[in-house]
Amino acid sequence: MDLCRGRFTEEIDKLVRDFTSSIKLDKKLYKYDIAGSTAHVKMLSKCGIIKEIEAEKVLCALKEIEKDIEKGKLNFNQKEDIHLAIEEEVIKRAGEVGEKLHTARSRNDQIALDERLYLREEIGQIIVLINDFQKTLLGLAEKNLQVIMPGYTHLQYAQPILFSHHLLAYFWMLERDKERFKDSSRRVNVMPLGAGALAGTSLRIDREYVAKLLAFPKVSENSLDTVGDRDYIIEFLSAAAILMMHLSRLSEDFILWSSPAFSFIQVSDAFATGSSIMPQKKNPDVAELIRGKTGKVYGHLVSLLTTMKALPLSYNRDMQEDKLPLFETIEVVKTSLKLYAKMFSHIKIDKDSMRKEAEKGFFAATDLADYLVEKGVPFRKAHQLIGAIIKYCLEEGKGFEGLTLSDYQKFSSSFGKDVFGRIKLDSCVFNKESAGGTGKKSLARQIKEAKKAISLKL
Ligand code: ARG
Repeated sequence: MDLCRGRFTEEIDKLVRDFTSSIKLDKKLYKYDIAGSTAHVKMLSKCGIIKEIEAEKVLCALKEIEKDIEKGKLNFNQKEDIHLAIEEEVIKRAGEVGEKLHTARSRNDQIALDERLYLREEIGQIIVLINDFQKTLLGLAEKNLQVIMPGYTHLQYAQPILFSHHLLAYFWMLERDKERFKDSSRRVNVMPLGAGALAGTSLRIDREYVAKLLAFPKVSENSLDTVGDRDYIIEFLSAAAILMMHLSRLSEDFILWSSPAFSFIQVSDAFATGSSIMPQKKNPDVAELIRGKTGKVYGHLVSLLTTMKALPLSYNRDMQEDKLPLFETIEVVKTSLKLYAKMFSHIKIDKDSMRKEAEKGFFAATDLADYLVEKGVPFRKAHQLIGAIIKYCLEEGKGFEGLTLSDYQKFSSSFGKDVFGRIKLDSCVFNKESAGGTGKKSLARQIKEAKKAISLKL
């Protein structure tokens, strides 16, 4: 049975059939296609477009089909797409009344509905997964409150910070990701059915009723826009690309930290892989693959943007190519979040190693400049003076702690005995109490805010 070839005399070429088919990918949408058809049939019957008894037969067939798909009893692989496959099956089971299912509907508005229903659910799950991972990071931050590590800019030692502060930097990136997904779901949550092929329909349908049945807060306003729109997927892919960028940066930090050169953390064996030739290797492949798959997600975003960029209104078959980018991105995002939530609750922290690294270099340089500022020296001057002290230390092979008070005073009479308190590692970290800084109280405030953020209604 071919539902769309009434006007043709010849059969479709096999290569064309395979080339145009999307069933291998879009069969994933069966649940949403059936939910959409169910609401559509109820609406047709409520509006008197089909009889109640007819609707019942179709609804019954839809229910059975769903069960059979779930049991793996139906194989649609030879069909063009999931919409035609299910419709054909309804006709097979319900008889002639099944032919009424596609009244006042097109596959163009149908696919938009399926995708929106699917994406709405997936976004909900992704938001929960982000929140779970935030909880893991926050838990780790709270467990290691006093751990000091070197903070970097340009991957050079810059200033010492709390390890928890570094972890929470990722927490806030994830918080923005969560907001982006939430916001994008407002535009996903618009009901497209009833746009028909492109122009709406002359039949007296009730779109608001379908929206109510499927829990959409509103219906789309313009039928051309409705079937020609894939913004909701592009926005999702863009939020996903940014999230993956964050996870990829975390991967990079993780890979560095677990390398022997840093030795800041150790991943548990269950999350590491070995080498086929070097028996001693313990590799952070999970982090590397998350970093690697980020490229693929960027590619999916650019791929769909490119597909859409020169399409005349309204629907064009090019748009069928949105499936792979969408499905693969969801898979990568969900798996990465699940893996990281698990992996980060199984890492060992080597605080001595972090501290030893943090003590290297002239970590207190900025603190000493600030010290002079407190004594009334203009900051630029203080910067120069500390630079000169560092030069002197390098020539003498000393650190700040190796200088005497009179050494300091040779550079500036503003130095007093209290300078020695300011070059201690702990004080350099704990005194950064400006809002959002790495100081103790400041971190406590941050943790309080973080707790609020993850307990909000998702
Ligand atoms: N399979 C198509 C898609 O995914 C939906 C069908 C629209 N096809 C058509 N010939 N109008 O976009």
